Amino acid sequence: MDLQGQRVVVLGGTSGIGLATAEAAARQGAVVTVASSRRASVDHALTRLPDRCDGRVVDLTDAQAVGRLFDDLGEFTHLVYTAGEPLKLMPMDTLDLDAAWNFFTLRYFGALGAVRAVLPYLRKDGSVTLTTGTAKDRPGPGWAVAASICGAMESLTKALAVELAPVRVNVVSPGFVRSPLWSGMGEEERERMYTEVGAAIPVGRVGEVEDIARAYVFLMTEPFATGTVLTVDGGHILV
Ligand SMILES: NC(=O)c1ccc[n+]([C@@H]2O[C@H](COP(=O)([O-])OP(=O)(O)OC[C@H]3O[C@@H](n4cnc5c(N)ncnc54)[C@H](OP(=O)(O)O)[C@@H]3O)[C@@H](O)[C@H]2O)c1
Repeated sequence: MDLQGQRVVVLGGTSGIGLATAEAAARQGAVVTVASSRRASVDHALTRLPDRCDGRVVDLTDAQAVGRLFDDLGEFTHLVYTAGEPLKLMPMDTLDLDAAWNFFTLRYFGALGAVRAVLPYLRKDGSVTLTTGTAKDRPGPGWAVAASICGAMESLTKALAVELAPVRVNVVSPGFVRSPLWSGMGEEERERMYTEVGAAIPVGRVGEVEDIARAYVFLMTEPFATGTVLTVDGGHILV
C-alpha cells in the first residue's frame, strides 16, 4: 500500500521532520497539506513540494483556528502532528512553573486539540501519527518537563488507538536529529553536540530528518500498526 492520491495533513510540516515527512508522502503520490504558524515557513515548504500540495498558516495553540482549518480542508486520510517550538531545557533549580505549563501547550494540548477537531473529517481507514522523543526513556539533567511531555504523548497515543479504532493512532519517537529545532544554539556548539552525540551511539551519527520521515510514512501505510511507539534513534537509548 502506498499513499497514491490520498490526502495527508502535516501540522508542523513546514520544517525539519514534518517537512521531510511531507516530502516523503508526496513522493509516494499523496496530496499533502502542510500547516504552521509563520507564512514564511509555509511558503518555503511549498517550494519543496509538488504543485498539487498546499499550505496553511495556523497557530496550533489556537483551538478555534484549528477547528476552522479542518472545517475548510474537509475529508482526508492521514493526520501527522510534528509541531514544536525550539526546545528549552528546564533545570529544576531555576524551574519556572508557568513556563513548564506553557511547554505542554503546543506539543501536548495542540496535538490533543487537533485530534479532537479532525474527527469529523478523518476517514475511518485513515491514521493519526503523533510525535514524542527518546527523552522519556533517556532523560538528562534539565529534561524533566520535556521528558514528561514525551511520556504524556505515548500514553495519549495508546489511549486514542483504543478509543478511535478503526482509525489507527501511532507515535514516532526520534532520537537526536539534525534539524532547525536546535537553531537556538550557536552553530559551533550545535555541531559539537551532533559530533559528540553521534560518536557515542551505535550507528555513529545523529539522525537526519529523512531517517525519521520514513517512520511516519511506515505508520501511515502499515494497516496492522496501531498504538505503536516507533523509536528511530540510532540505538541511543541502548547505550
Ligand atoms: N530534532 C530532534 O532532535 C527531535 C528529537 C526528538 C523529538 N523531536 C520532536 O519532533 C518535533 C519536530 O521537530 P523538528 O526537529 O522537526 O523541529 P522544527 O524543524 O523546528 O519544526 C517545528 C515545526 O513546528 C512549527 N510550529 C512551531 N510553533 C507552531 C505553532 N504555534 N503553530 C503551528 N506550528 C508551529 C514550525 O513552523 P512555524 O515556525 O512556521 O510555526 C515548524 O514547522 C518536535 O515536537 C520535537 O520536539 C525532535
